[in-house]
Amino acid sequence: MMLRKNLVLLLLMLIVGVRANSQSRIHQSFNQDWKFFLGDVTAAKSSDFSDLSWRKLSLPHDWSIEGKFDLKNPAKPEGGGLPTGVAWYRKTFTLPANLQQKNIFIEFDGVYKNSEIWINGHLLGKRPYGYSSFNYELTKYLKPGENVIAVRVDNSAQPDSRWYSGSGIYRNVWLTATENIAIDHWGTFVSTSAVSKTTAKLNFKTEIRNKAGLKGEIDVQSQVYDAKGKLVAAVRTDHITLNDTLVTVAQSSTVDQPELWSVNNPHLYKVVTKVFSGKRLVDNYETPLGIRYFNFDAAKGFTLNGEYLKILGVCMHHDLGALGAAVNVRAMERQLEIMKDMGANAIRTAHNPPAPELLDLCDKMGFLVMDEAFDMWAKKKNKQDYHLNWNEWHVRDLQDMVKRDRNHPSIIVWSIGNEIREQFDSTGVAMTKELVKFVKDLDTTRLVTSALTETDAKKNFIYQSGALDIYGLNYNHKLYKDFPKNYPGQKFIATETTSSLDTRGFYEMPSDSIRRWPKDGKTKFTEGNAEFAASSYDNVSAYWGSTHEETWREAKKYDHVSGLFVWTGFDYLGEPLPYPWPARSSYFGIVDLAGFPKDAYYMYQSEWTNKPVLHLFPHWNWTVGKMVDVWAYYNNADEVELFLNGKSLGKRTKQGEDLHVVWSVKYEPGTLKAISKKNGQVVLVKEINTAGKPAKIELLADRTQIGADGKDLSFVTVRILDAQGNLVPDADNLVQFKLEGEATIAGVDNGFQASLEPFKADYRKAYRGLCLAIVQAKNKAGKLKLTATSAGLKSALVSISVKGIK
Ligand code: GAL
Repeated sequence: MMLRKNLVLLLLMLIVGVRANSQSRIHQSFNQDWKFFLGDVTAAKSSDFSDLSWRKLSLPHDWSIEGKFDLKNPAKPEGGGLPTGVAWYRKTFTLPANLQQKNIFIEFDGVYKNSEIWINGHLLGKRPYGYSSFNYELTKYLKPGENVIAVRVDNSAQPDSRWYSGSGIYRNVWLTATENIAIDHWGTFVSTSAVSKTTAKLNFKTEIRNKAGLKGEIDVQSQVYDAKGKLVAAVRTDHITLNDTLVTVAQSSTVDQPELWSVNNPHLYKVVTKVFSGKRLVDNYETPLGIRYFNFDAAKGFTLNGEYLKILGVCMHHDLGALGAAVNVRAMERQLEIMKDMGANAIRTAHNPPAPELLDLCDKMGFLVMDEAFDMWAKKKNKQDYHLNWNEWHVRDLQDMVKRDRNHPSIIVWSIGNEIREQFDSTGVAMTKELVKFVKDLDTTRLVTSALTETDAKKNFIYQSGALDIYGLNYNHKLYKDFPKNYPGQKFIATETTSSLDTRGFYEMPSDSIRRWPKDGKTKFTEGNAEFAASSYDNVSAYWGSTHEETWREAKKYDHVSGLFVWTGFDYLGEPLPYPWPARSSYFGIVDLAGFPKDAYYMYQSEWTNKPVLHLFPHWNWTVGKMVDVWAYYNNADEVELFLNGKSLGKRTKQGEDLHVVWSVKYEPGTLKAISKKNGQVVLVKEINTAGKPAKIELLADRTQIGADGKDLSFVTVRILDAQGNLVPDADNLVQFKLEGEATIAGVDNGFQASLEPFKADYRKAYRGLCLAIVQAKNKAGKLKLTATSAGLKSALVSISVKGIK
C-alpha cells in the first residue's frame, strides 16, 4: 500500500516536474542536423542560400582530424600537420511550439576559431578565441517556420596555437529557452565558507535577468540536495523588488554534517534555484556543488579538508588523439580513468579553458583542477596567435572562463597564463595586477597563479607584481629545495615539470645515460634515430626538463612543493619535438596518443598509489649475447628477484632515492621472470617471454556494452601475438577492420608519433605490437561485431552490445 502511495506521489512529482520545466527553462542539445562545407562561401550567411549539396553531420565536429597529414599544411608539424582553413556550418530549424513564447539563446561551448554567427542573415557576433564558451540571444530574429543559423569558422591564419587546436564547432552547442524573468547566463555562483566536518556555510549568488524591465516582485528559493536526492538545506527570499534589468540576490544557508568532496570521495550536492513570479515558477536552474575546503601553506604544502595531500597532477591538452578536438565525454572519461589508475589526482588544462564536460568529469571522478586561461598575452609566441586579439578580448575571455567555471568544486587554482613573455619586462607588473583583479572580482575562493620560467625573482615582472597568490614554477626542479630560502613565506606549486621524451615499446641503451634532446637551444638536433623514436627507459628529456624520475625525486622530498603537473599525461597532436617531419605528435606523454601506457606510467603508479605494482621491461626479443638492461618498477615489497630461464640473476632492492631496480643481463631467448616479495611472501610475479613470429590477433574492448546515444565509444585494443599468445614487440602488421551493426569506426591509431596514416580509416598498422580501433554507437540498440584481419594472421572478433538509453 505504502509502496503504491509512493509510486503515485513519484508519478505526480514527475508530471509536475516536467510541467514546471516546460513552463520555465529548457536547455537542449543543438548538435543534430547541421550542414558543413569546407571552404569559404560568403553567401552562406543569408537564410535563402541553398546548402542542399553540403555534407550533413552532427556536432561536435573537427574537420582537421579528417584531413591528410602534409608538411605543406600551414599549421606545420608543430600544429599537428593537418589542414586548417575556413569552413561553414549551417542549420535550418523550426522552433517547437513550446518554445515559441520564450527567450531563445544559442550557446557554443567552443568554436576553433574566429567564429562569426548569423541568424536569418543577421550577424550575431564574432568570437576570436577558440577556447572560450559564449552565447547569443536569438529571440528577436526568430520567425515562425524555418530559421537558419550560419557559422563561419576561420582557422586559416597559421601558425597559431603551439599545439594541435582542431578546427570547427568542436564542442557542444545548446539551445536554451527562458522566461522574461530568468537566471542569467552562468548566473549562479555557489560558494562555501566556514567548512568543517560538522558544518558548512553555503553562499548563493543568483543573477536574475529581468528582460522586459518588468516591475513587481519575485521570490527566489535555493535548495540543496545530496547525491541521493535528499533535501539537506533550503533558503527562500520573498518579495525581491524588480527595479532593474539585472537583479542580484544573495542568500546563504548551512549544511550540517556535510559529506565532503575529495579526490577519493567526490561527493556532489546539487543546488536547485527556483525563481517565482507570484505563484508561477519562472525559472528552475541546477548548479553542481561540492563541499570541501583546502589550504596552501608555504612550508607544509597543500591540505584538502584538513588532510595533507600532495597534488599529483598532469598537464593535458584538449585533443582526444584519433578523435581530434571533437568533444566526446567517454573519450575524456577514458583519459581520466587511465590517469586515475596511475594515481594522478589533478589536471592542468594546458593552456586554455577546457570543454565544460571535462570539468564535470573532474568533479565527478575526483580530480583537482588548475584551470588556465592563456598561453600568451599581448606578446606573441606564434605569428597568428591570440596576441592579435589580446587588447580587444582578454578581459571578456578571462571573465567568461571564471564565470563559467567557478561552480566546479574540482577547481582549486586559476592560472592567468603559461610562460607569458611579459614576465621578462616591466609591462608584466600592471598586466598581472589587472588580470588577477578580474579573477578576484568574480571569485576569491581559489588561488591565482601563473606558470613562470624566469627564475630570477628580481627579473620576473609577473612575480614582482605581488599579485599572485601562489608561485607557479615550470621546470627547474633543482630549485625546489631552496625555494623557501629564496622566497620566504611564498606558497609554491610546480605548474609544469619533466618533458621527458618516450616512445612506447622502444629502448636505447645504456639505460642509465641520460640524453637531452635537443642538447640546448642553439645546437641542431642530430642525436635521434632513423626510427623517429625516443627511448622508453626514461632516459631522454628536453634540455629544459628532466626525466620522470629526476623531477619526481625532488618533488616528493619537500612538503613545500604543494604539487606538480607533469608535462604531459597523454601524448598530444602537434609539438613533435625534437624530431622533424614525419613526426607530428608529441613524445612527452606518460601515455601514448592511443591511450597505451609507456613504461614510466608504472613508475608513477608504484609511487602514487598503494596498489601493488611490479612492472618489468623491456621486451625479451634481442640479439643473442647482447647485454640488456632489465628494469623493474615496484612497490609494497622489500625486494625483487629476477630469473632468466629459471636461473636467478639476483635480488635487487631500491636504495636511497631509487625509483627502480636494474639488472644487466646477457640476452638469451626464453623467459624472464620477476618476483617481488615482502617479508619473504610473494607479492607479484611478472613474466616476459621471447616472442615468435606474429601468428594471431587479439582484440580487447575496454567496454563490451555501450549506450545507443550516437556518442558512446568502445576502445578496442588490437594485440599482435605469436602462436603461444605472447605480444610480438616489433610487430607492425597492417590490420583491417570490419564492423557489423549500427555503429561506426570513429578513429584508429597506434600511438606512433611519426605515423602519417589517417585517423579516420578502417585499417591501421600495428606499432610495436599494438593498435586501436574506436567503435562509436549510433542511436539504435543492437549487437555489433568488430572483426580484425591481417595477412597471414589468425583473425579476431569482438562483440559489443549497444543498449538503449533510458
Ligand atoms: C613548456 C611549455 C609547454 C610545452 C613544453 C614542451 O615550456 O609550457 O606548452 O611547450 O614546454 O616541453
